[in-house]
Amino acid sequence: MFDLTDRVAVVTGAGQGVGAGIAEALAKQGAAVAVNDLFDDRAAGTVDAIKSAGGRACVAAFDVCDYDAVKAGMEAVVAELGPIDILINNAGVPPGMGVKQFRETTPDEWRPYIELNTFGVMNCCHAVADGMCERGRGRVVTISSGAGTVGIPLGIAAYGAGKGGGIAFMRHFAMEIAKEGVTANTVAIGLIDNHTDPGVTEHMARTVPTGTLGQPQDIAAVVLYLASDEAGWMTGQTIQLNGGNVTT
Ligand SMILES: NC(=O)c1ccc[n+]([C@@H]2O[C@H](COP(=O)([O-])OP(=O)(O)OC[C@H]3O[C@@H](n4cnc5c(N)ncnc54)[C@H](O)[C@@H]3O)[C@@H](O)[C@H]2O)c1
Repeated sequence: MFDLTDRVAVVTGAGQGVGAGIAEALAKQGAAVAVNDLFDDRAAGTVDAIKSAGGRACVAAFDVCDYDAVKAGMEAVVAELGPIDILINNAGVPPGMGVKQFRETTPDEWRPYIELNTFGVMNCCHAVADGMCERGRGRVVTISSGAGTVGIPLGIAAYGAGKGGGIAFMRHFAMEIAKEGVTANTVAIGLIDNHTDPGVTEHMARTVPTGTLGQPQDIAAVVLYLASDEAGWMTGQTIQLNGGNVTT
């Protein structure tokens, strides 16, 4: 099950963290993976890991917020690996992301979160949708956050707004392409174990019903299913994946 041999995948923001885990898992299932990131050295690190494990991958460095760069970047992927079958919109943390109560922020501080999590997702979907629909086959998965579906008093309102925009877009996008053999789903993930301070990690884990933070492999497992042929009847959904933190 979930064999991705001969499939071509693009994973955005895959130079580290969750995206790197997803890219490596897709490659293990047989996909050739274009590893996108803002930083080409980060993307190259993930490509090296995939190649060391015997997989196929290439660097695809571009800013998902820049529509022209996305179009050119996706065209370069097609030229190098072949037509794109799978798009994973994972990039979602702008450089320097912090927490601040909304009343203390200025409009300039909101924009990067909306640019990346709403327009970034739309840019990438727009760039691959025609090719997928023409070939009658495609899988699009967006990595979102519980913050896009519920309120959290942490000082991440603009991030939540961007994630919420991405979630709403994906639902409509899924409906428009459902008859073309292309599915589009969102995975709204919870707290991930990517903090270096063990005190912070321990404190955060205590807030999760399972008592554990998520690992990139936990996210990759659901993405593999959504990217597979077996998931053809699954579309337009927002799946909560969070150790029980948000239940709907
Ligand atoms: N880490 C968490 O606890 C958590 C929780 C909920 C949701 N998420 C979501 O999971 C996804 C992955 O998060 P992560 O913690 O692994 O992120 P991360 O910050 O560790 O890595 C994200 C990568 O995306 C790249 N990136 C940022 N902006 C980009 C752009 N404009 N174009 C291309 N690449 C860009 C960065 O350079 C970075 O390498 C994100 O969508 C995030 O919002 C994370």
